[in-house]
Amino acid sequence: MIKGELLYEGKAKSVFRTDNPGELLIYFKDDATALNGEKHGIIEGKGIINNKLSEFFFKQLKDRGVKSHFVEKIGEREMIVKKLDMIKLEVVVRNIVAGSLVKRLGLEEGTQLPVPVVEYYYKSDELGDPMLNRYHIMALDLAKIDELNQMEHVAFSVNTILRDLLRAKNVDLIDFKLEFGRLDGEVILADEISPDNCRFWDTVTHEKLDKDRFRQDLGGVEEAYQEMLKRLTL
Ligand code: ADP
Ligand code: TMP
Repeated sequence: MIKGELLYEGKAKSVFRTDNPGELLIYFKDDATALNGEKHGIIEGKGIINNKLSEFFFKQLKDRGVKSHFVEKIGEREMIVKKLDMIKLEVVVRNIVAGSLVKRLGLEEGTQLPVPVVEYYYKSDELGDPMLNRYHIMALDLAKIDELNQMEHVAFSVNTILRDLLRAKNVDLIDFKLEFGRLDGEVILADEISPDNCRFWDTVTHEKLDKDRFRQDLGGVEEAYQEMLKRLTL
C-alpha cells in the first residue's frame, strides 16, 4: 500500500490518497479541539488509541451486520478505508442527558432519556455545526429522505450494539456522533468511533472516560483514553 498525496488535513485526522483509487488512508493525530475549534491541545497517544478503538468497534459492528468504511489497520496511527462521497452531517444519538442537551432542554446531566434521541448537525465549521431537522436537510439537499432513513436505522443499530458491548465492560454509552458517506447508491458508516466522538461513563462511579475530560479541563485525559482501550481490548 503506497501512501499518496495528502487530500485533507482535518482537526483530528489527515486523509491521504493510496495506490487504490477506491481507498483512502486515514492518519489519526493527537490533536484535540473543542468549543468549535477555539480550544486546541494535544492528547498524548490519542491517535494510536482512537485508531485501535475504531478498528475494534468497526469489526464488532461488522460481525453484527453493520457495514462500515473500515478495510484494515495498517499502522499504529493508520487505517485504510473505502473512499466515500461524504454526507455533510453529524448524526448524534443520545441515551442519557449530557453536553449540549443540558443547556438546550434544561435537563440535569445524567438523566436517563425514556427513548434514544437522534439529532442531526450540519458539518460546517463556518456556521459552527448548527442543528438541523429533516426538512432543513432536504431543503439544503444534504441527503435524500431514503438516505436519512438508512442513516437513522444504522445509528439506532449502532446504539444497541455498542450499548450492550460497553455495558459488559462496566461502561455506559451516554451519546455518540456518527458520519456517513455514499458508495454505489448505499449509505455507509464512516469516520471513527472513539472517545473523541462518544461519551463513556463508568457504570458505577459515573467517571467520565472520554473527551469531556479535555473539554471540561477535568485532568486525567490520557488516562481515560487508556482506560477505555484497556477495558475493551485487553
Ligand atoms: P474534521 O473534518 O471535522 O476536522 P477529522 O480531523 O476527523 O474531522 O478529518 C477526517 C475527515 O475525513 C472528515 O472530514 C471526515 O468527514 C472524512 N472522512 C471520514 N471517513 C471518510 C471516508 N471513508 N471517505 C472520505 N472521507 C472520509
Ligand atoms: P454535544 O452534547 O456537544 O452536542 O455532543 C454530542 C455527542 O457528539 C458527544 O458524544 C460528542 C459528539 N460530538 C462530536 O463528535 N463532534 C462535535 O463537533 C460535537 C459538537 C459533538
